[in-house]
Amino acid sequence: MRKPEPPAAYDDVKPRARAATAPARARVPVTGEPKDVPAPFAHNAEYEFARILDFYGITWQYEPRSFPLRWERGHVTEAFTPDFYLQDLDLYVELTTLKPGLTAEKNRKMRLLKELFPETNIMMLKKRDYLRLLAKYGYGAIAPDQVPDIDKVLIPATKLSQRVQELGAQISKDYAGKQPVLVGVLRGVICFIADLMRQISVPTSIDLMAVSSYDGTTQGAARILKDLDLSIKGRDVILVEDIVDTGMTLNTLIDYLQTKKPASIKVATLLDKRVRRLVNVPVDYIGFEIPDEFVVGYGLDFNQRFRNLPFIGTLKHELLP
Ligand code: IMP
Ligand code: MG
Repeated sequence: MRKPEPPAAYDDVKPRARAATAPARARVPVTGEPKDVPAPFAHNAEYEFARILDFYGITWQYEPRSFPLRWERGHVTEAFTPDFYLQDLDLYVELTTLKPGLTAEKNRKMRLLKELFPETNIMMLKKRDYLRLLAKYGYGAIAPDQVPDIDKVLIPATKLSQRVQELGAQISKDYAGKQPVLVGVLRGVICFIADLMRQISVPTSIDLMAVSSYDGTTQGAARILKDLDLSIKGRDVILVEDIVDTGMTLNTLIDYLQTKKPASIKVATLLDKRVRRLVNVPVDYIGFEIPDEFVVGYGLDFNQRFRNLPFIGTLKHELLP
């Protein structure tokens, strides 16, 4: 005998009175201890989990769907509503309390759900497994309590790699039949240029320069500390920057590179703090436009710290001068 199909309209099944659909992204503050459990959450663990997801910029929905597990003539007699759905991972997450009795019951439901909906990705998560999920998502071992100086994650690692991939594809298209030279500006650019070059399909060469950091007091010119090693005469240059802020550094560099008579110069920057621009420099490839906030991570530093964070984050305001 064929197994009966589950009822088609299972999205509408609401076995509990609680809200079945949450807004796609309900933002929860990252700082401060929760006093009571705010809606729509049923348990504090769920609320904490949502705070961690928010910290890392992972989009979530709370209990968006119920799965019927048993039914009689289209009438659902047992259903299961996972706590969270993470769209970017296409993953349902069920948080478990550590009570063994409940875990066994949930395990039974999970087995049934996997049988009936084999296409559905779902995992049970114990509180101590949070960080394992985050590691899978690409954040390494960095947990909120390990980076107390970071206010929030502005651009998570997955978004960075996705955008770098797009930029690489665009550059590959624009430079079809050419052999550009990527010129990176140390040290903030190291993560970006390393990832970007691996997304460019045309033959490329790499060179690196270093300039004295513009501290806001030196008028105009940033000093060149490390010059090019390659000749760029007659070459198509892509100047690669971590962040364009006032535009002073970039302006100086373009002027300098022009004296070497390249065939062309274009600029690729991971981040663009456009609101702070003082010098109008053309930027051809922009990863993300960001607000006027001091950011660190993915190569960018504050007093040489935080370059190794796999995401772009903002610093706690009290740390800034
Ligand atoms: P600009 O000359 O003002 O455009 O400054 C660009 C340089 O300032 C970048 O290459 C960075 O080294 C540094 N910078 C500007 N904003 C930030 C930030 O938010 N975090 C880290 N470094 C920054
Ligand atoms: Mg720099």
